[in-house]
Amino acid sequence: MDSQDVKSDLVLILDYGSQYTHLITRRIRQLSVYSLCLNGTASLESIRKENPKVIILSGGPHSVHAPQAPCFPSGFIEYVESEKIPVLGICYGLQLLVQRLGGQVSIGEKQEYGRMEIEVQKACGLFGNRKVGDKQVVWMSHGDEAVKLPQGFEVAARSQQGAVAAVEDNKRRFYGFQYHPEVTHTHEGMETLQHFLFDVCGVSAEWKMKDVLEQEIKAIQEKVRLEDHVICALSGGVDSTVAATLVHKAIGDRLHCVFVDNGLLRYKERERVMETFERDLHLPVTCVDAAEQFLSQLKGVVDPEMKRKIIGKEFINIFDAFAHDLEQKFGKKPAYLVQGTLYPDVIESCPPPGTQSTHSHTIKSHHNVGGLPKNMKLKLIEPLKLLFKDEVRALGSILNVPEAFLKRHPFPGPGLAVRVLGDISQGNALDILRQVDEIFVQSIKDAGIYDKIWQAFAVFLPIRSVGVQGDQRTHSHVVALRAVTSQDGMTADWYNFEHNFLDDVARKICNSVRGVNRVVQDITSKPPSTIEWE
Ligand code: XMP
Repeated sequence: MDSQDVKSDLVLILDYGSQYTHLITRRIRQLSVYSLCLNGTASLESIRKENPKVIILSGGPHSVHAPQAPCFPSGFIEYVESEKIPVLGICYGLQLLVQRLGGQVSIGEKQEYGRMEIEVQKACGLFGNRKVGDKQVVWMSHGDEAVKLPQGFEVAARSQQGAVAAVEDNKRRFYGFQYHPEVTHTHEGMETLQHFLFDVCGVSAEWKMKDVLEQEIKAIQEKVRLEDHVICALSGGVDSTVAATLVHKAIGDRLHCVFVDNGLLRYKERERVMETFERDLHLPVTCVDAAEQFLSQLKGVVDPEMKRKIIGKEFINIFDAFAHDLEQKFGKKPAYLVQGTLYPDVIESCPPPGTQSTHSHTIKSHHNVGGLPKNMKLKLIEPLKLLFKDEVRALGSILNVPEAFLKRHPFPGPGLAVRVLGDISQGNALDILRQVDEIFVQSIKDAGIYDKIWQAFAVFLPIRSVGVQGDQRTHSHVVALRAVTSQDGMTADWYNFEHNFLDDVARKICNSVRGVNRVVQDITSKPPSTIEWE
């Protein structure tokens, strides 16, 4: 689905590189309003194409005085005025509006960062029914400051230090917050955004997951011709599963899925995911048992990136063979490939100051293991590419993907290969790891804390330690337990278990997994560590 297929009002965000830009998008969507980001320097044509009902200029790390300060395209002000599109500037966005409309922004004498009180200066405006003199706590983060407002602008709120905190020109429909209404530290932020969108701008709350699903299905049905076949590689994760289920609903059994058992899966993973695919979701899936193929290629390999390359290549070989088999069966090549790409993977943002690039990509390239053959020339169907992870879960729920499946922790494409440190063929490392991992994760589920954790797993260490079991000295394996909390996997904190829980788990592991005599816990955050050990 492209954004033009979405029928609801759009709030378009021009992104100037603030760390909070995507949060604005999500907050607006939480209010059932459709919202998208474009690079803050996007062309007027691409802005116009989106037909926005409201435009928000985001914050950003730049100063409006910097020579390369990013700005909306020329003709933008004339465009929004002639179309009567309200424009809201947040932080840098406010300063940009003020400067470009003839006001003045200066390097602030009193820089304002963090929690701060502001006072409403104008009733019946941006702050709805709040009275003049009402106070609220907001989150500020700025150095520059608007010192002279453009003609027609009024101050709607000031900070306790007297700086401009909110402005409005109701006639020309320009608005601005110097603070961040989208962050939770701004206590009444959601209320302010809600008032702005619905009461000030007259936006309708029409962005509902059920409608998204229907629009998406219709778009796929229009795109894929009746004689076309479509393929999809299922990883066992939420994104590819939801994407495949949705496409299956649109085109039925002209979708052909493949799930690869690469010998690097968790305990009973293959049986568990195949049961969900077949019994719960009725997906047409071929399970390819390629364990031998993968394990023999990986034998003796210790370099993690080499492991990833080998695994990626084997995936492609299997996928190629799968597509070839379909071609033999139907007498023509599959036309489309389904991918579970999400919105954060496709957004382009303004780069931080001082970087050479013109925009920054958030794609985590080294994580795209199983990247598929380019020479197959398959056209893509990416039904989730406008959605955030929590929205994909909501969509999955409407599609009857079991809740427990939707809440599963992420699992890396190269699987246990990056959790057995060094050579995966040492001893019975993979088997030991599977048993330990299962005990750990099941204990977490039993303790009712699975949903509080982003990822929990065990790691097999390539060392042995001395122990004593019964009356015997042992020289056995050491395993590490890792559990982290995180929002998006980019940063993470280690999860602080209760001591009794850890005590129980360690005891259970040593008592029931032959070959393990020591359990350690990883208590590093990311950074400096990564979540996976390899
Ligand atoms: P790191 O270890 O980089 O992991 O902190 C961040 C997130 O990415 C996952 N991860 C991968 N996922 N292929 C994947 O599909 C990979 O090669 C890969 N490496 C790490 C990791 O599990 C965590 O969720």
